[in-house]
Amino acid sequence: MIFIILIASFLALARSSLAYNPRPCIGFKVPVEVQANNSIYDIPRVDSNVDAVDLVRNLVVWSGPNATSRITAPRPVHQTFSISARLCVPDGGAKASILQIATHDTNSYVNAALKAGYSILIYDRLGVGQSDKPDAYEILQAPLEVEILHQLTILARSGQLVPSPLTSKNVQLPKFDKIVLVGHSFGTAITSGAISKYGDTIDGAVLTAFVYNKEFLATGVDSYGWEHAPESDHKRFSEFPSGVIVQGTVSSVQQIFMKKGAFEPDMLDYAEEVKQPAGVGELLSVGMIWPLPAPAFSGPLLIALAEFDFPVCRGDCKGVVDLSTLGPGLWPKASDISLQIHPNSGHGLTLHRNSTGHFQVVFSYLNEKGL
Ligand SMILES: *[C@@H]1O[C@H](CO)[C@@H](O)[C@H](O)[C@H]1NC(C)=O
Ligand SMILES: *[C@@H]1O[C@H](CO)[C@@H](O)[C@H](O)[C@H]1NC(C)=O
Ligand SMILES: *[C@@H]1O[C@H](CO)[C@@H](O)[C@H](O)[C@H]1NC(C)=O
Repeated sequence: MIFIILIASFLALARSSLAYNPRPCIGFKVPVEVQANNSIYDIPRVDSNVDAVDLVRNLVVWSGPNATSRITAPRPVHQTFSISARLCVPDGGAKASILQIATHDTNSYVNAALKAGYSILIYDRLGVGQSDKPDAYEILQAPLEVEILHQLTILARSGQLVPSPLTSKNVQLPKFDKIVLVGHSFGTAITSGAISKYGDTIDGAVLTAFVYNKEFLATGVDSYGWEHAPESDHKRFSEFPSGVIVQGTVSSVQQIFMKKGAFEPDMLDYAEEVKQPAGVGELLSVGMIWPLPAPAFSGPLLIALAEFDFPVCRGDCKGVVDLSTLGPGLWPKASDISLQIHPNSGHGLTLHRNSTGHFQVVFSYLNEKGL
């Protein structure tokens, strides 16, 4: 198991997307019953900024244990969580029955997907926005987040995603017969975990801003500038429990997400405004779900990286991904695996000037593959 906390980035833009309310979209809360095999980790509690800084030290000190050897016991979870979601369905068209489920995406992506004719579901990750905020050490972990995504996929396919009084009134729901998962960053780790475990339930996948490569260990949890969320910004994050951390400053956000010269200044402010916290348990548990083989996934797969991604490729994604080794190992049955390096962008692909170029690549790829 690899200790890959470093790449998990937590700019959960979904919340701001939920505030955006053009028809044909509906916002709702969906109860999601899940079972997951979490773990208990030996890790100090984080209840202050001083604790958060020491957590980073504790995680990266050369003489300390890795994430796997911190596991002291299994922590099975069987619980129902309330997940805040938003579903947008275009007004007819051939692709309306293809549903994209996006784990962490932006307004601009939702609008572009709708314009391209797709139905799209976005949701607040467990622990952020309007979704439940459980214990951040033992409950809020990557294995559980994979199960939530899987349950959302099942509900969408069976037509049970949206509470029925809402559907007739606000939006005409097509029968979703194809499901494409789209992830960004930590959302891509969760998406990858779902493809690994439940590949036969997914028709295609777009993995953005996160893939295994030879530089991925080089920048770490120490470049995020983590602080304890409630102390870092009491006004915004007072309701978050112990063990929840957030990037403390706008400069830390820039470090991880942005490439100077490729974004408009107000997009950095926007990124700071919509940043969302993460749980200590999420940092520790990513290695439990990623990178794992996806033996049952037989759809097409697009990996889209930003040219200058700092946390994923140590600032330069060109030539670092060895698809010829990675592909057969991780996605042996995929009908196609393509890699696209989006020029002149940082990790926050949708926050840079040419984000529409990135969207075009995604939609043309899916279209070309019959999705
Ligand atoms: C984690 O540490 C244990 C114990 O030192 C070691 O056996 C294991 O190989 C390490 N795992 C990784 C991924 O480095
Ligand atoms: C949890 O682990 C048990 C034992 O390995 C397994 O039978 C079960 O399917 C796992 N549950 C999930 C949700 O993965
Ligand atoms: C915009 O993005 C597309 C897709 O990645 C790329 O082909 C194009 O060269 C980019 N344009 C500029 C001006 O960077």
